[in-house]
Amino acid sequence: MAKQEPLKILFVATELTPYSTVGGLGRVMFFLPRALMKLGHEVRIMIPRYGKIDLAKYPMETIHEGLEVPTDNDATPYLICNVKTHRLPGSPRAYFLENMEYYEKRANEYGYSDDPVRWGLLQKGLLAWLKENRQSLKRNPKSPAFVPDIINCNDWQTGLIPNFLKTIFKDDPDLKDLVTVFTIHNLNFQAHYDPRFVNELDRDDGRSDIPDIFSERFAKLNSMRRAIIYSDIVNTVSDKYSKEILTPEYGCGVDELLQEVRTKLFGIVNGIDYDDFNPKTDKLVHFNYDFRSLDKRILNKKELQSEFNLPVDEKIPIIAMSYRLEAQKGLDLIREVMEYILQEYSVQLVVNGDGDPQYKTYMRKLYEDFPDQVGLNLNANFSLPRHIFSGADMILLPSKFEPCGMVQMEAMRYGCVPIARAVGGLADTVIDGQSGFTFKKFNSLALFGAIVRALEEYKDSKNWRILVSNCMKQDFSWTNSAKKYEELYYRVLDLKRQQQQAKTHLI
Ligand code: GLC
Repeated sequence: MAKQEPLKILFVATELTPYSTVGGLGRVMFFLPRALMKLGHEVRIMIPRYGKIDLAKYPMETIHEGLEVPTDNDATPYLICNVKTHRLPGSPRAYFLENMEYYEKRANEYGYSDDPVRWGLLQKGLLAWLKENRQSLKRNPKSPAFVPDIINCNDWQTGLIPNFLKTIFKDDPDLKDLVTVFTIHNLNFQAHYDPRFVNELDRDDGRSDIPDIFSERFAKLNSMRRAIIYSDIVNTVSDKYSKEILTPEYGCGVDELLQEVRTKLFGIVNGIDYDDFNPKTDKLVHFNYDFRSLDKRILNKKELQSEFNLPVDEKIPIIAMSYRLEAQKGLDLIREVMEYILQEYSVQLVVNGDGDPQYKTYMRKLYEDFPDQVGLNLNANFSLPRHIFSGADMILLPSKFEPCGMVQMEAMRYGCVPIARAVGGLADTVIDGQSGFTFKKFNSLALFGAIVRALEEYKDSKNWRILVSNCMKQDFSWTNSAKKYEELYYRVLDLKRQQQQAKTHLI
């Protein structure tokens, strides 16, 4: 395929902002396809049609009714689905796989005991639909049916698609040409269960046939492992993480497998949308500003202090946390150091985010002990993070591991300086002393040291301003990342073509 030729790319995932968001994945699924579309490619995305998706807000058109999705189960050989579609202005067309029992009746994305069946249906549904599309294109080349060159799968819930394509569909005339890229957003989740706590008999080596989607064995497949084995290309969401996962410390039990396939393993850092996240124009920010008008930022700081019922004083540094409160984000370290920081320093802590109940309880306790220094909002909120980034001085990100992390990039864009552990995407995006403060070991003393360094530096307002504007001037645009994905797609298509040529020579 010539380099200039636009590609047809289909993303498949379990989240897509704004229809459905749980974490960073949903946001990546919104921005990356958009950036690829702007580069001239024909991009689409498919997710399930969950009950929570607001049909009044996003009216959908049905484009396929009564799609028969094979289950490989004798008692219920097919599940019937519809495919619906909606398009947001400026975004690629989204497809929604509809099924009453498995998606519509469930409000949420995750957390049901039959999730394996739900993801089995998504993956088999997508392939059944593509097969139909290919056939309708064969009947009528002018049909609007979409068949991609590349399927970009995301995380374990979509990890069996490459497996199906390389095994049962490898000679299927309608599907055999499809090329797969598998993106790891989080290696820690590999299946419906935690493969590290499975007994030897149930361990999935990834090579056996895929059983019927209702079977117990299906629920025990390690889809992450299978995706790594069968995808044409595997990539993850930062360069550093793509190297870390080759080690036992970060490899979550698949480091040896990743070592074996490392020639097809890549790292591409996520980005942020510079039009959307722009403190100069963002309507969600009280007082707009850029790096030339940092004084306005102080007005936002005061606004934030009153929003959280804290003493309004521009001199007191505000440390923020605005993400899901969970172990991955380093909450255990925060729990060890925060009361000492609050005792020793005149500092305020602003916390926003839902998450693990044990950490929420801890935050409430901290608030009771330091009511004049701590402000809480323990619910996920769409606009609050932007208020926080535009008014807080520092953001705390001591992650245990971090495939990419979006919050540091968003916060930096608004001049909120990261105090971060130099791990994964955080290491790739935060430069110690220039655009933040980093520490290496996952250890509370190391975190304590980094916070103290930041608080001391804050006292020198001239230097601090330089740091803030350095942060704001960083370029993590999606366009850069999308260009790297584009390169990867061309590379894998070339590879596939070479393989096919080699095959025809053999015949
Ligand atoms: C996951 C990772 C996070 C990454 C996001 C999007 O949530 O934990 O680091 O930024 O996916 O790729």
